[in-house]
Amino acid sequence: MIMKTIGVLTSGGDAPGMNAAIRAVTRTALSKGMNVKGIAKGFNGLLEGNIRDFDMRSVSNIVERGGTILYTARCPAFVPIEGVRKGVKTCEEVGIEGIVVIGGDGSFRGARDLSNEGIPCIGVPATIDNDIGSTGYTIGFDTAINTGMELIDKLRDTAQSHDRCSVVEVMGRRAGDIALHTGIACGATSILTMETSEYYTVEHAIERILKTKTGNKHHFIVVVSEGYTAGKYTDANQIAKQIQDATGVETRATILGHVQRGGTPTVHDRVAASRLGHRAAELLSQGMGNRVVGFSKNAIFDYEINEALEMPKVFNKELFQVAETISF
Ligand code: F6P
Repeated sequence: MIMKTIGVLTSGGDAPGMNAAIRAVTRTALSKGMNVKGIAKGFNGLLEGNIRDFDMRSVSNIVERGGTILYTARCPAFVPIEGVRKGVKTCEEVGIEGIVVIGGDGSFRGARDLSNEGIPCIGVPATIDNDIGSTGYTIGFDTAINTGMELIDKLRDTAQSHDRCSVVEVMGRRAGDIALHTGIACGATSILTMETSEYYTVEHAIERILKTKTGNKHHFIVVVSEGYTAGKYTDANQIAKQIQDATGVETRATILGHVQRGGTPTVHDRVAASRLGHRAAELLSQGMGNRVVGFSKNAIFDYEINEALEMPKVFNKELFQVAETISF
């Protein structure tokens, strides 16, 4: 039986393109004769009853906006089963029969638990980190790496003018994809990620700088992922100091931080979000639940949530080797 009413929420860290996904979910569901309700502040909205009706116009003029009109949050109260059951009760009260959950894999766990308790959910991958194993692409990644690239290009200007080394820390707690892509796009001398940290260490970066210096190059960019600093270092400042002490090159650290999560989404993110949101609403309209959508190459796939959560994230070591070879 076709669902009469579905909900849509965004959860976890925001990502540019979330609005485009909300729009696609809403308009696809409406076009299939379903009603749509927007749930505010992630799963908190279900616990607090912070829910409103959406029509075609509720999602007008948002495709180009960063952030999320539904607001987002991480929701520890939704981890225990009592929280999930409270969410189910709210759904029953307001007539929500299925939900599209837009977020990262923490959010997918909430979607799975709700599905298991009788509210079918479809997860849509959205996080700037591109750290979800079941999909080759997550909404927000392209915008974030373009933002990172623009900022690192600016850092290069000043590093070059002063013959300095610029150590730039980019986001990515559990994946080095942002570091890899911005690093290669900006011609970083070294890229430090946790996936390659066994061999490609700060000491290795120092060796490269020393070697490159003899070849008449005097400014350097080292891109570090947040996950790399998490172990041995507190942040990029310590790495900068180590590099300066060992190479004699004046070194500055910059932590890009949350600026990478903002901004107007790129074409790539708007299109990816539109496609994924559309498919998620279609699946709910077919009575499916407990699934996540994602990309494999350029095609959209859907998997059972637990199966998806078990898929390991694969780091592109070949691309890393390309960067190592060409960035001297
Ligand atoms: O959205 C992912 C992410 O940006 C990570 O790269 C980062 O570690 C984390 O979120 C920071 O999140 P917040 O400061 O919002 O808790």
